[in-house]
Amino acid sequence: MNKILASGWTKAVVFLMCLVPALLLGSGWYKEALGPNPVENITHTTGDWTIRFLLITLSVTPLRKLLHLPMLIRFRRMLGLFAFFYGCLHLTTYLWLDQFFDWAGIWKDIYKRPYITAGFTAWILLVPLALTSTSWAIRKLGGKRWQLLHRLIYFSALAGVIHYYWLVKSDIRLPLMYGAILLVLMLYRAIIWFRPKARAGGSF
Ligand code: HEM
Repeated sequence: MNKILASGWTKAVVFLMCLVPALLLGSGWYKEALGPNPVENITHTTGDWTIRFLLITLSVTPLRKLLHLPMLIRFRRMLGLFAFFYGCLHLTTYLWLDQFFDWAGIWKDIYKRPYITAGFTAWILLVPLALTSTSWAIRKLGGKRWQLLHRLIYFSALAGVIHYYWLVKSDIRLPLMYGAILLVLMLYRAIIWFRPKARAGGSF
């Protein structure tokens, strides 16, 4: 399995798979097949994929340890960047198709509507991570500082879950499910943190 994961082809296939939701949205938009409220459809789809990619990225480390698949690490940066990519599409949909770049209204929303504040926080926290995702940035920052900075992803995912929980009106099952997944992923890290032997195994 590690051999398959090490192949350049596998990386290309995973990359294309990550693009599928965006391609489907693009083709739906082009064919005018996104339903009666296309903007709402795009906002929801891009929001869903942002939180999913954040959680998938956070699953890489536990999965590579538990399944003994160290090569999974090759996909972590790409998956994290896809979380940022869908987050940017989500934010752009809001700024452009929902608010028509009405900056006064947008700032008021960020300031006054808690779920928008949480979503914006989640996105802002991803910006330094995307900007320092290159090997050059890792070298410049040094491994330890880079790792510390990249722990912001935990707070981004938490803010994303809160954003989702605050925006749903009645059915809270999905935000709770994402929250539960995040909790399990964080508990895994907490256990590793308190067991120095396991911690010696590398990044968590
Ligand atoms: C990492 C950042 C973010 C994540 C993970 C995220 C996630 C989500 C999710 C999961 C949904 C619900 C999708 C559904 O109902 O199927 C959603 C909806 C939404 N998000 Fe975000 N979001 C993020 C950032 C933002 C930002 C920066 C804004 C705007 C400033 C924003 C504005 C909205 C709006 C307007 C909705 C639709 C609300 C409604 O249906 O009434 N989000 N987001």
